Amino acid sequence: MQAQSTYNYTVVRQFAIMTVVWGIVGMLVGVLIAAQLIWPDLNLAPWLSYGRLRPLHTNAVIFAFGGSALFATSYYVVQRTCHARLFGGGLAAFTFWGWQAVIVLAAVTLPLGYTSSKEYAELEWPIDILITLVWVSYAVVFFGTVAKRKTPHIYVANWFFGAFILTVAVLHLVNSAAIPVSLTKSYSAYAGVQDAMVQWWYGHNAVGFFLTAGFLGMMYYFIPKQAGRPVYSYRLSVVHFWALIFTYMWAGPHHLHYTALPDWAQSIGMIFSLVLLAPSWGGMINGIMTLSGAWHKLRTDPILKFLVVSLSFYGMSTFEGPMMSIKTVNALSHYTDWTIGHVHSGALGWVGMVTIGSLYYLIPRLFGRTEMHSIKLVTLHFWVATIGIVLYIAAMWIAGVMQGLMWRAVNPDGTLTYAFVESVKATYPYYAVRLLGGVLYFSGMLIMAWNVYKTVVGQKAVDAQIPAAAGAHA
Ligand code: HEM
Ligand code: HEM
Repeated sequence: MQAQSTYNYTVVRQFAIMTVVWGIVGMLVGVLIAAQLIWPDLNLAPWLSYGRLRPLHTNAVIFAFGGSALFATSYYVVQRTCHARLFGGGLAAFTFWGWQAVIVLAAVTLPLGYTSSKEYAELEWPIDILITLVWVSYAVVFFGTVAKRKTPHIYVANWFFGAFILTVAVLHLVNSAAIPVSLTKSYSAYAGVQDAMVQWWYGHNAVGFFLTAGFLGMMYYFIPKQAGRPVYSYRLSVVHFWALIFTYMWAGPHHLHYTALPDWAQSIGMIFSLVLLAPSWGGMINGIMTLSGAWHKLRTDPILKFLVVSLSFYGMSTFEGPMMSIKTVNALSHYTDWTIGHVHSGALGWVGMVTIGSLYYLIPRLFGRTEMHSIKLVTLHFWVATIGIVLYIAAMWIAGVMQGLMWRAVNPDGTLTYAFVESVKATYPYYAVRLLGGVLYFSGMLIMAWNVYKTVVGQKAVDAQIPAAAGAHA
């Protein structure tokens, strides 16, 4: 009965540690493909070629690194804020092992060239079925815990985690619908422009829910905790929640500007993307204002630095995104490295930094310690990562705008000023700077791994007690 009076931290610990491991793997592949763009000779074998490693990178960083972080934090937060042990007994353990199996299967099949060819949904149908089983179990564990909560209301972080879990289930089921022709090959249930629209409805909401809503759940728990202040405005957080989830759903067509998609649908995508600026910034402001009265802590607390800088990048990428969704701007940015810069200001800046900050809060507490082994190393990680991001995204912005302008430049007689290959050649220096930025960000992860190792080695895993009576959030 002892176990019933404590929180289930086992699964949280497992996912937290795997977040660091998969972060290193995924980013190492990122560094490799960044290097391949400079030195094509690094395409040493078919299974090590850019075309196969790129989806391995995106799957590893989004679903293995980001996914494990989301499982770890949502399981921690839902228990702490509901004063309840995770629902479902061994089901939580199944989600851990099942999710790791999905990741390993992805790491094997993608380099072998098995792909559905849908971006961010490349995995073939048998793996898709396993994902569905894991995800349904995740929903049962999460919502089961919310249902048996001992606290009177549902803390807002759980709203965001809940929306992320529900929406990803719907997105995955609809977009992955396919007709299998063999164990390793299937064809999408949709065709032509419908297929494209379903894919980018999925793709954009993968950004909105996998890479945003769940991480906002993290923000709403770990920023108040680390700052020692309550959320700036609970009312704003509720408005933020409903506005965000309603608006994201319609923005997908901005990925299909100037395609066979009807023009009105493209315009809807653009308009909803512009509207999305408001809830996104509402959330960011709520997070940042939570620090009012605690700003001095930023001077000495590197975990808070990670969390606040993540919000700044969130604000930046959710300003940039709406701008890029304007058709005339997209005419310049689409197909260029500007998009890659935008992606990584969101991915490295927002998703990466909020995850790292949350893990630095979480890991010592899961192993009976009050803080990480070395705060100096956390500070070093912060600076290495921040400089890495700035180099990465600044290089990609300049390269992207340059490429867009070169491609559209015409001579007085109407012929193109530059051949495509000239724009590739002009991009090399920027690829080198991006590689440097990536290496820095990656080395930050290695520093983190060492620090985590020193924090947990020799420590006993500690499961906190569940408070006996209902009360404030813990
Ligand atoms: C060391 C860190 C990283 C490096 C060096 C890196 C490098 C790269 C490179 C070279 C590409 C291909 C760009 C191209 O096609 O021109 C890429 C794509 C991508 N990366 Fe990363 N990456 C890193 C971290 C991350 C993280 C942490 C995430 C997400 C959480 C992420 C998400 C993505 C996505 C979504 C794409 C596809 C973008 C698109 O299709 O527009 N990356 N990355
Ligand atoms: C208000 C919020 C946002 C809006 C309106 C938005 C809008 C856009 C637009 C217009 C594109 C370019 C589409 C194209 O030309 O193909 C794009 C690409 C992308 N954005 Fe955002 N963005 C937002 C926030 C974010 C955030 C926070 C992240 C990451 C955490 C992110 C990740 C991505 C990714 C991965 C792509 C590349 C998709 C692909 O082509 O593979 N976005 N976004």
